[in-house]
Amino acid sequence: MNELPAALRAALARELEGVSRKDLAVRAARTSEAYRAGKGSAGVIQGREDVLAYALARLPATYAACAAVFAEAARMAPGFAPKRLLDAGSGTGAASWAAAQAWPRLASATWLDASAPFLDLAQRLAVAGPAALRAPEVLRGDLTSGRGWPNTDLVVASYALAEIPAAAQAGVVGALWAGCEGLLALVEPGTPAGFQRILTARQALISAGADLLAPCPHAEACPLASPDWCHFAVRLPRSRDHLMMKGAEVPFEDEKFAYLIAARPGVAAAPRSPRVLAPPRASKGGIAFKLCGPEGLEARTVARRDKPAHARARRLGWGDAWPPDAT
Ligand SMILES: C[S@@+](CC[C@H](N)C(=O)[O-])C[C@H]1O[C@@H](n2cnc3c(N)ncnc32)[C@H](O)[C@@H]1O
Repeated sequence: MNELPAALRAALARELEGVSRKDLAVRAARTSEAYRAGKGSAGVIQGREDVLAYALARLPATYAACAAVFAEAARMAPGFAPKRLLDAGSGTGAASWAAAQAWPRLASATWLDASAPFLDLAQRLAVAGPAALRAPEVLRGDLTSGRGWPNTDLVVASYALAEIPAAAQAGVVGALWAGCEGLLALVEPGTPAGFQRILTARQALISAGADLLAPCPHAEACPLASPDWCHFAVRLPRSRDHLMMKGAEVPFEDEKFAYLIAARPGVAAAPRSPRVLAPPRASKGGIAFKLCGPEGLEARTVARRDKPAHARARRLGWGDAWPPDAT
């Protein structure tokens, strides 16, 4: 499970001292409904309490999704050790915290966001956080208005493209890529609409000469056709406050996300291998996998009687890369 770092949990707890949970739960329900209805943050988040409600209800999930994406980036590019981060549409800074966990040598961060309440809370949360996040460069600005940010070796836009008008998304991705000297990670909700935004970005990045690291094992046309869509899931624990915000009883949740990792040529070292696109299905005969490989979609079953391969296949989950030695 991808849990929030202890320092972030403590910072959130400090922010929540004396704040009515009942009021936050009402705000969280209202903001979730508005987000689901397609409103962007500008129309949803008006002040400190709204951001706190967002932080309680959504930060653990967006952090967990980014942590999963960065773990895959680190696996694909083990020699990559970014020093400078741009977090575009940084919100409460969830992606930056996940980046600092994945790459402890990160030295500095730039946060670009249109929302003052988001930027304020992000800075307060990071005061006792990882060194790279304690004094970030904070840019209040509009991602669609062209490049107003420094070049960095790591660029992330997490749950941010969703708020960019469709016609501007490819341009924003192009601008993020232009300022990226190493690796770019895009993370979106794991919905058909989120996947469509990833597909748009994928095309823009391929055209710009980017190297796709994950989840795609190739740069050919995506073989998934509607109603199917490429997405993954990560499990995260729910704190007592988180449970209350969601009106939930189960002490964990599964966050569905879609993503794309692209890099400058030479950054990745691991070979591309097929990706497990759905939860594996175990039966008496073996384990059935849905894979995306260089030849497109593929169904592959590892027979139970092939004991060594079956033992390796049992460790494989949704989203994992197919180990070449498990065939
Ligand atoms: C749903 S929040 C995601 C925040 C954070 N990245 C995360 O993963 O939790 C989207 C963020 O993008 C910002 N945003 C939306 N449109 C923007 C734009 N055109 N320029 C800059 N920031 C924008 C919002 O203010 C908000 O902070």
